[in-house]
Amino acid sequence: MTTPHGGVPAEQERREVALTDRVLGSFDGCQDPRLAEVMRSLVRHLHGFLREVRLTEEEWAAGIAFLTAAGRITDDRRQEFILLSDVLGASMQTITINNAASGDATEATVFGPFFVEGSPRVPIGGDITFGASGEPCRVEGTVTDTAGRPVPGARIEVWEADEDGRYDVQYDDGRIAARAHLFTDDRGHYAFWGITPTPYPIPHDGPVGALLAATGRSPMRASHLHFMVTAPGRRRLVTHIFVRGDELLDSDSVFGVKESLVKDFERQPPGTPAPDGRAIDGAWSRVRFDIVLAAEEA
Ligand code: BEZ
Ligand code: FE
Repeated sequence: MTTPHGGVPAEQERREVALTDRVLGSFDGCQDPRLAEVMRSLVRHLHGFLREVRLTEEEWAAGIAFLTAAGRITDDRRQEFILLSDVLGASMQTITINNAASGDATEATVFGPFFVEGSPRVPIGGDITFGASGEPCRVEGTVTDTAGRPVPGARIEVWEADEDGRYDVQYDDGRIAARAHLFTDDRGHYAFWGITPTPYPIPHDGPVGALLAATGRSPMRASHLHFMVTAPGRRRLVTHIFVRGDELLDSDSVFGVKESLVKDFERQPPGTPAPDGRAIDGAWSRVRFDIVLAAEEA
C-alpha cells in the first residue's frame, strides 16, 4: 500500500514518521521551553524537507561539504553563514518578523557585512566620502516619530560602496571612507554629501557564490546606501535607500529591496549650483529621505 507522501509505501512511511517522533521526543526533558519549541519546529521542518525531496546520501554529503567549506572560509572578516542566510532570504524574513509594521515607520532591510563601529563624525551638511570615488550625491531629510514629531539628536550612521563597488574595508590599506555618522538638529533635520550609489556583487568567491552560480542566480545587489538610525525611546532602524530606475531592483541577491525604500535620485547636470554653494566639477545627484522611527516597544 502507498501513501499520498510522494508514493512512499505505508511501512516505509511508518518508519520515517517514527524516527521524526523519536527525535521530537528527545527534547521532552529540555528545561528551556523556548529552546524546546525552536528545536522541535526545526526538526519537524528539517525532516519534512528530507522526506519531501527524498534526499540521497550523495546529496546529504554534498550539503555537509558545503557547510564545511562555509566554515573554513569564515573568519573575523568574512561570515559565509550570514551570507548564506542573506541569499536564502532568511535574513530578510527575520528582519521582517522583528520590525513589525508600525504606522508609517520606515521599513528595515539587511544589515550586510560592511558596517564598522567607530566611524568618523561629520557635521550636518558634511562630506562622508573622505576621498572615496564616485559621483557626489546630496542626501537630506528629517527624522520624525510616527506622530510626525521631529526627533532631534538622532544618530545617523551611513555607509556605502565607492563607484568601483567596494567598501573601504575591502581594501587592504586601512582606509576609512564613504562611512560616517551625524546627528539631527533641533528640527530633526539632517544632510550630508555622499556618493550616488552604484551596483556591486556580494562576496561570491566562496561556497555561497558557487551556490548562486549553480542555481543560475546573480550575486549583484541593487544600488543602495546604508543607514542605521538610533534615538532614545525609538526602535533602532537598519535600512537602505535604493535608486529608482535601477534595473537590479527586482533581482537583488539578498532580497533587500522594498518599494517604500526606492527613492528618486535626481541627476543634476554639470554646472548646476549645489544648495550649499559647494564647487562641483561634473554632474551630481540629490535625494530626499525622510525617516520615521517606530517606538521602542512597537
Ligand atoms: C551589503 O549591502 O553591504 C551586503 C548585504 C548582504 C550581503 C552582502 C553585502
Ligand atoms: Fe551594501
